[in-house]
Amino acid sequence: MAAPAPRKILVTSALPYANGSLHLGHLLEQVQTDIWVRFQKSRGHHCLYVCADDAHGTAIMLTAEKLGISPEQQIENIQQEHKRDSAGFLIGFDNFHTTHSEENRFWSETIYQHLKDNGHIATRAIIQAFDPEKQLFLADRFIKGTCPRCKTPDQYGDNCEACGATYSPTDLIDPVSAISGARPVDKESTHFFFKLPEFADMLKAWLDSGRLQPQVANKLREWTDAGLQEWDISRDAPYFGFEIPGEPGKYFYVWLDAPIGYIASFQNYCDRTGHPFDEYWQHGGDTELYHFIGKDIINFHGLFWPAMLESAGLRAPTAIYAHGFLTVNGTKMSKSRGTFIKASTYLEHLDAQYLRYYFAAKLSSSVDDIDLNLEDFVQRVNSDVVGKVVNIASRCAGFLRNSFDNTLSAGCAEQEMVESFIAAGEPIAGLYEQREFNKAIREILALADRANQYIDEKKPWALAKQEGTEQEVHDVCSVGINLFRVLMTYLKPVLPGMAEKSEAFLKCTLDWTALQAPLLDHALDTFQPLLTRIDPKQVAAMVEASKESQAAAAAPATAANKAQPAVKVADTIEFDDFAKVDLRIAAIVAAEHVEGADKLLRLTLDLGPDSGQKQVFAGIKSAYQPEQLVGKLTVMVANLAPRKMRFGVSEGMVLAAGPGGKDLFLLEPHAGATPGMQVK
Ligand code: MSP
Ligand code: ZN
Repeated sequence: MAAPAPRKILVTSALPYANGSLHLGHLLEQVQTDIWVRFQKSRGHHCLYVCADDAHGTAIMLTAEKLGISPEQQIENIQQEHKRDSAGFLIGFDNFHTTHSEENRFWSETIYQHLKDNGHIATRAIIQAFDPEKQLFLADRFIKGTCPRCKTPDQYGDNCEACGATYSPTDLIDPVSAISGARPVDKESTHFFFKLPEFADMLKAWLDSGRLQPQVANKLREWTDAGLQEWDISRDAPYFGFEIPGEPGKYFYVWLDAPIGYIASFQNYCDRTGHPFDEYWQHGGDTELYHFIGKDIINFHGLFWPAMLESAGLRAPTAIYAHGFLTVNGTKMSKSRGTFIKASTYLEHLDAQYLRYYFAAKLSSSVDDIDLNLEDFVQRVNSDVVGKVVNIASRCAGFLRNSFDNTLSAGCAEQEMVESFIAAGEPIAGLYEQREFNKAIREILALADRANQYIDEKKPWALAKQEGTEQEVHDVCSVGINLFRVLMTYLKPVLPGMAEKSEAFLKCTLDWTALQAPLLDHALDTFQPLLTRIDPKQVAAMVEASKESQAAAAAPATAANKAQPAVKVADTIEFDDFAKVDLRIAAIVAAEHVEGADKLLRLTLDLGPDSGQKQVFAGIKSAYQPEQLVGKLTVMVANLAPRKMRFGVSEGMVLAAGPGGKDLFLLEPHAGATPGMQVK
């Protein structure tokens, strides 16, 4: 019988915001997706995994402004960081792009034009809160004020953290803009709406199509049953995004162009590699399209997105796979408890495969939340992966190397058992396909138990001490290695690093498609340790570092985080580059607190009669009171291009060093230096 033709599958996971670092919650999603993709590849299918950064929106614009860099620079920095962190977790993206790309602009404009041509766009004026100082319309989460019910001050937008009341920002007592502190005013502006109600019938059929998990479809039916609303897809300038063609000052709302980013990333992949594009997005092809997402964004993917695709004449997703949220030790990730763990912090302390295994052991096809219990994590990984799976190979490898020239027996002593392990591959594959990873792991570990039991019964270590049992020792160890090979094949989607080392040891590729018969009379390579046990101290150190990393973004490198120091030494520069820096002695003539800034002091620096005075915002408030500084001399970078910050223009930098917090030391030249003097 000919093998069935390979499926053509395109897979995405949600595009992380280019506004912050990846944390373990993001990684839950990427690991789930990656395991599924690697599984499909191992089954011989043609499967591609694309993703991108979600680069647009007000939050990214404000973050960049706060950092004193352009949004383009901000999203570039974050993209590099995201790529590095995902690679650290062995996430095998075929392409990782950005929504701030020409491909995405093209597809956003194209799809919008379809919606418009089809009469699916409405225009009308709406009234919104506006920050008169920042000249910016304010989304609910950018407005703060006193709760109208319990009178707790400083509550965000539309709900009170103290009493749980929900309200509209206009109900807040003394509302202020969270950005500038100014009192918001009502202002009218024209917005563009996607006429979602016109897709009510289509969406009802879609929700009944079986392409969504039952819980997700039910949740979305609440929306369709309540009557769909038109969806506001435009935002006013200033906004970091794509301007709507023909509508100066109006931008696509970030959630319009974000899912289109899936198409754009795939387009970028196809342009790079010559891979065919159309059959994945047009109707009628034999391709499959899957979106892996978190449960918080099901309305965008389960309602708006299929309606947009429909209007634009593009295919609908084959299925949408939503997962639950990650909690740590039973509760929401918390910065104060050290359980808000960034991907990079994890990688400084632990091997990515530990977490990949733990997630796999817990993930199912449901949208239930997943708890990372740190004690259970250590225990489970050590006992399952190291204690059971690695153990099979390490118990047998020594005998084979020492007594049998590192070569497996010519015959298989336990044909039936090895065949039953291979036969288990089909049901296990079924579980992977259904995203029942926890059940797949349970099956695989049950096989590992059987393999260990077999070795325990045969006791090759005891046999080796007897006379005339050479062949039996050889056979038992060869069976053990063959069983290990089958198990590692099934675990390869979860533990790709360990699988790669096993492939080197076994001198064969581990794929479902390559599992037909045991390896006989087959030479092995030297056995290398595959994975070591987790020391609970590493976990404790990671939790500790997660507490600290909030206080000081740039913690100094310590022995524990040597592998990927938090403070990287930058690329080398030439002496000429250094010589361009104009360092001058400056007198601090004034220092003051900056209203609304946690870290900054505003310094007025005098550079002597030739250069006059400059204003500099310095992030040294945690270490200095303004009055301590006035009258001191310091060193400043005098030729730094002025930067517009949230609180004003900064015209240079002062030099300080230290790990942060109270330990930050402003460079203070001894008396005798005079303002304006060049520092050599
Ligand atoms: N940018 C949007 C997605 C656009 S897709 C066209 C977004 N970004 S996000 O960075 O907030 O989240 C990215 C993904 O990570 C989402 O699927 C989200 O559900 C998931 N997670 C974020 N925090 C999570 C947990 N704590 N646990 C599990 N997944 C979580 O939403
Ligand atoms: Zn309240």
